[in-house]
Amino acid sequence: MAVLVCGGAGYIGSHTVRQLLAAGEQVIIADNLSTGHRAALSPDVKFYACDIRDKDALKKIFAAEKIEAVFHFAAFIEAGESVIKPLKYFNNNVYGMQILLEAMVESGVDKIIFSSSAAVYGEPERIPIDERDATFPVNPYGDSKLIMEMMIRRVNAAHGVKFVSLRYFNASGAIEDGSIGEDHHPETHLIPLILQVPLGKRDHITVFGTDYPTPDGTCIRDYIHVVDLAQAHLCALNYLRNGGSSDFFNLGSGQGFSVREIIDAAEKVTTRKIKTELGDRRPGDPARLIASGAKARKILNWTPRFDDVEKIIATAWNWHSTHPHGYGD
Ligand code: UFG
Repeated sequence: MAVLVCGGAGYIGSHTVRQLLAAGEQVIIADNLSTGHRAALSPDVKFYACDIRDKDALKKIFAAEKIEAVFHFAAFIEAGESVIKPLKYFNNNVYGMQILLEAMVESGVDKIIFSSSAAVYGEPERIPIDERDATFPVNPYGDSKLIMEMMIRRVNAAHGVKFVSLRYFNASGAIEDGSIGEDHHPETHLIPLILQVPLGKRDHITVFGTDYPTPDGTCIRDYIHVVDLAQAHLCALNYLRNGGSSDFFNLGSGQGFSVREIIDAAEKVTTRKIKTELGDRRPGDPARLIASGAKARKILNWTPRFDDVEKIIATAWNWHSTHPHGYGD
């Protein structure tokens, strides 16, 4: 049987497809290519140009292929944009999940591995963040991911669709051979934006806020390598196959780095001076987000390989320096 990867042409989806293939899994991709890239598709994988809001198209895939489990990466991800365009997020993310779950239930597909987010926690009540902590999203993107989690939990109870929901912290880096990587339009994430400075695509990086209650005044985040995230999806699939019960897991390193520390690390990796400007806070940014990754390590048997932020940035630099225009599409 095969697994269906919805959003397999995107950043984390394409890395997960590589891991699944390396593990000998049969993979099928569905992606509407609205933010994903054709060039990120693995050439030997069957691809359906399909939107998850198109139930007929999904049901045709489920009828034509023997699908054991669905990996759901097909969602919009920009917290800032979601504040301005909440309905865009509720349509693609929440309504998309509705249609996907309807198609799965009607077709008898009973496993889903879902890309959730640290954004479900909002402003955390304690650090490191534990899966049992309160979920109070502070933007529509986080709302959409929390609603999607509620939907799979209720559908699990009523229809027996088993799930693993993976709450990603800050996905970063690229596959070590540099063949695929991060390419968002527009780019809003810290590490790719920093690396645009030594690439000559940007004059400077602006630090969003220097008066946070952190040792150097800048925000602290938990950067987790995309290959480690991808590996967690394989662990989640095997966990469900082995009868594991449906559950939610943080995916983070448990270590936090400030914006300044990331800029310093990027200077070391690229051996260039990175011009920095100090700016205002970006609305909605919590001061510190650090995961407790203990539950995923213990229950999913997940063992992240990248524990050094310079190594993570080095893999990102390998991708960006060899693909300064991303996939060029
Ligand atoms: N930052 C800057 N300058 C920039 C860009 C970012 O200082 O030009 C700072 C941000 O203020 C933040 C840190 O760098 O403190 C990381 O910002 P990112 O935009 O890279 O990542 P976020 O932590 O904001 O967002 C990540 C995911 C989102 C998800 C969120 C959950 O990328 O999809 O975590 O909290 F919603």
